[in-house]
Amino acid sequence: MSQKILFVCLGNICRSPLAEGIFRKVIADRNLVQFYAPDSCGTGNYHIGQQPDPRTIRNATKNGLTLDHRCRQISTDDLGNFDLIIAMDSSNLKNILWLEDASGYRNKIKLMRDFDEAQDDTDVPDPYHGTEKDFQEVFEIVERCVLNLIQQLENERLNPVSN
Ligand code: 4NP
Repeated sequence: MSQKILFVCLGNICRSPLAEGIFRKVIADRNLVQFYAPDSCGTGNYHIGQQPDPRTIRNATKNGLTLDHRCRQISTDDLGNFDLIIAMDSSNLKNILWLEDASGYRNKIKLMRDFDEAQDDTDVPDPYHGTEKDFQEVFEIVERCVLNLIQQLENERLNPVSN
């Protein structure tokens, strides 16, 4: 059984599809695809069905990454269906916790920057109104968090008794 991981932001066109894409690439590169099933979604409904933002796609390409995702909105079913739900910022986290029955799932809902050893903020900044420099900063934060997350998950998978 693979572990199901859901990355959540507001629009599901910038930060969370990037997190999903980086996660997919790392598990593919490390032959770990069978162990993890990543996905992403947004708390908002503005961009349902759309591909990631063109600026996110361009920045990802610059960093050697192909994104393949269509925007969808989070639903209450996601709370039960996923093992780990990771919000990109504290506002996304608040929105997730407003979903019906979310309090029963509180222990599997995390903040992305909980996985950032260089944590100087609780949030992955929203680049939507930003420049390429902001998109690159987001890429670097998200990549760092995803690498640490995978290291932690692999540690738990390979050493189950220590948890
Ligand atoms: P994301 O960025 O939450 O990282 O996908 C945003 C995308 C769209 C909007 C806001 C943030 N919007 O307001 O449409």
